[in-house]
Order: sequence, then structure tokens, then C-alpha cells
Amino acid sequence: MKAFSSTKEIKVGVIGYGGAFNMGQAHLSQMKKAGMSPFAVCELDPKRLEVAQQDFPGIETYTNLDQMLKQSDVNLIIHITPHNLHYPLAAKCLKAAKHVVTEKPFVLTTAEANKLINLAQKNKVMVSTYHNRHWDGCILRAVKQIVEKKNHRRCHTNRSTHGKL
Ligand SMILES: NC(=O)c1ccc[n+]([C@@H]2O[C@H](COP(=O)([O-])OP(=O)(O)OC[C@H]3O[C@@H](n4cnc5c(N)ncnc54)[C@H](O)[C@@H]3O)[C@@H](O)[C@H]2O)c1
Repeated sequence: MKAFSSTKEIKVGVIGYGGAFNMGQAHLSQMKKAGMSPFAVCELDPKRLEVAQQDFPGIETYTNLDQMLKQSDVNLIIHITPHNLHYPLAAKCLKAAKHVVTEKPFVLTTAEANKLINLAQKNKVMVSTYHNRHWDGCILRAVKQIVEKKNHRRCHTNRSTHGKL
């Protein structure tokens, strides 16, 4: 995997700049805070592209992923589209040798997850999901139970809920 010589060199693109939770703005702001460069947004809805332009003046905008992959210099792409699109769109990005982070859930099946991991290895890039719930109580409790019951070799699914909404 090619190393970056500075964090600023990481040019971040987002696919999906939806308004439900405004996660595109959140991701790009966090990346910017960490020193990376918000660079491009790909979104089907032109109104949301206008919002992205207001949030990040001068950012590249696209309505089509193929076009973004062809024209943009982005090297890390964050996927914030509906769940079922994470796999096909991430696969395209990995084939184009772009690093990929998908919003949760990573993908819909283990087979899709394995295919993305293989594609990342083949193209010498990174693939990951966004771990913003990693330290939530329900996750930590589930991990504790799994470890204490020593049944971690057999666990393949964890269902949990958290309140507020
Ligand atoms: N980590 C979190 O706490 C958190 C919070 C909210 C949402 N999410 C995840 O983010 C993802 C999106 O959820 P949301 O509620 O923000 O959805 P949303 O409907 O608000 O946004 C999705 C956007 O994707 C766009 N889109 C769809 N297909 C596209 C394509 N082919 N190319 C470009 N853009 C496309 C849509 O136009 C829409 O604006 C989901 O997987 C969800 O689980 C995670």
C-alpha cells in the first residue's frame, strides 16, 4: 500500500450527501479536523450538491460515481448511501484503487464483505467500515458477554438496540 507523506495528501470524497442525518457534512468536517482534505462529493440529488458546495466552498461535485472516479483526484471515498449500495459502489471504488470507508452496516452479507476485502488486497488499498459506535455501552456489554461466556468462536451475529430515536 502506498503511504501518504502527510495527512493533507488524503483527498476525501463522499458518495451520498443525504439530508436525513447530514452525515456527509459530519464525515468531511471530521476528516478536515484530522488534517485531511475534503475534495469531492458524489450525490444524485442536485439540491444536496448545492448544500455540499455551501458547506465546503469549491469542493468538486458529481452526480455519477463513474464520472467522479474518472475525473477526480480523490484517494479515499466514504460511502453514505443506502445499505444495499455499499457493496456495489465500494467494489467500483476499490477496483479503481481508491481507499474505502463505508458507513455502517459495512455490507449486507459475509460474502460481500469477503469480496471487498479481497478487492482491497488485490488493489493494495484499505477498506473499512465507520466504527463510530465501537465504544457504545451495548457493544461493550456484548463483547464482555461473549468473552466471559467463552463462546466467541461460535458467535456470528449480534443484535442490539439503543434508545433516543
Ligand atoms: N454512523 C451513524 O451513526 C449513521 C447515522 C446515519 C446514517 N448512517 C448510515 O449512512 C447510510 C446513509 O443513511 P442516511 O440516513 O444518511 O441516508 P440518506 O437517505 O439521508 O442519504 C443517502 C443519500 O445517498 C444518495 N444516493 C443514493 N444512491 C446514490 C448513488 N448511486 N450515487 C450517489 N448518491 C446516491 C441519495 O440521493 C441520498 O441523498 C446508511 O447506510 C446508514 O446506515 C450511519
